[in-house]
Amino acid sequence: MGFRTEQIHAGVEPDPVTGAILTPIHQSTTYVQESVDRYLEKGYSYSRSANPTVRALEHKLAKLERGADCCTFSTGMAAINATMVALLNAGEHAVVSDVAYGGTYRLCTKVFSRFGVEFTFADTADPAAVASSIRENTRLILTETPANPTMKLSDIAAISKIAAKHGIPHAVDNTFLTPFYQRPLKLGADLSIHSTTKYLDGHNATVGGAVVSASKDMDEQIRFVQNATGTIMSPLVAWLTLQGCKTLSVRMDEQSANAMRVARMLEAHPKVVQVCYPGLESFSQHELAKAQASGFGAMLWFEVKGGVTAGKRLMDALKLWSLAENLGSVESLVTHPVTMTHADVDEAERKRVGITDGLVRLSTGLEDAEDLIADLEQALGKI
Ligand SMILES: Cc1ncc(COP(=O)(O)O)c(C=O)c1O
Repeated sequence: MGFRTEQIHAGVEPDPVTGAILTPIHQSTTYVQESVDRYLEKGYSYSRSANPTVRALEHKLAKLERGADCCTFSTGMAAINATMVALLNAGEHAVVSDVAYGGTYRLCTKVFSRFGVEFTFADTADPAAVASSIRENTRLILTETPANPTMKLSDIAAISKIAAKHGIPHAVDNTFLTPFYQRPLKLGADLSIHSTTKYLDGHNATVGGAVVSASKDMDEQIRFVQNATGTIMSPLVAWLTLQGCKTLSVRMDEQSANAMRVARMLEAHPKVVQVCYPGLESFSQHELAKAQASGFGAMLWFEVKGGVTAGKRLMDALKLWSLAENLGSVESLVTHPVTMTHADVDEAERKRVGITDGLVRLSTGLEDAEDLIADLEQALGKI
């Protein structure tokens, strides 16, 4: 079946009791058992271990990503945390993209490092740099592609090949493109991770996370951590995310088309120094973007003449684009990564990987492109 059919129907069945077409919000802590000998006969015991609404979302995401199963979490960070807890022990090492969401960097450098886990932040745009970062104690390769906020791409198939050669799991943070545009497991990765807070929900309504595993064995390891640490997704969040998933393709296509128009306008604007959008021919990894994904997504960034002062003035002058953290929702958002999403990345590291002080990040929403462009033009007129 096609993606548009699956995004609506995969993982859900009409309610067997009432016929309700939407999966009910099973707001129940516990599940009554028939007898001690028939414990867990219906698959549920206690909602930290499993909940029917949450399982419906997990089945849908597993199907959309072509995985064996999926585990959902309270946030995207909880999903990344569980992956690391499941796969890394004290004294072991992980190779992580040198450009990634600031929270991922913070988790590695400020939390896992306290427990004796070592990290190399590698330029994962270069598969050879990944290969040369692998040590005898490397147990995980974590890439984020496209990476937040610079949009740097990692070649999923090439890195998965290197990972497989060394018997190391390759996890890909697929938040920016979703399975509609990019399927890491089909390219050889072992895990596809999401902040469902972004495009999968798509409405700025929830925070959540998911890990889709290529194998049942890997899913069981992650599910064990999910249950042991209790960082589960709630039934209401799962229900809202289930509804968001049904329109994923439509939102992604429209938002990406808006992003392309915005990027082209910015590229031609005399006050703009640089625009970075994977759909532009000027994007340095444009060919890889076309080869490993079926769309370019709706995230981009640019820098204006006058550097950080002019950039801040521009962000403050925008009216329709809201100055806020988050991305991927129907509302268009503008973010200043250095003060907001990546404030916890060391300044020297930020500079090294190209997260400049003047970088203005856009998450293009579903409004009319003309209105989004007009708002940017009026703000550019004020700097
Ligand atoms: C690429 C990426 N991964 C993970 C996360 C973390 O997700 P959450 O905010 O749901 O914890 C974010 C958040 O912005 C992100 O952009």
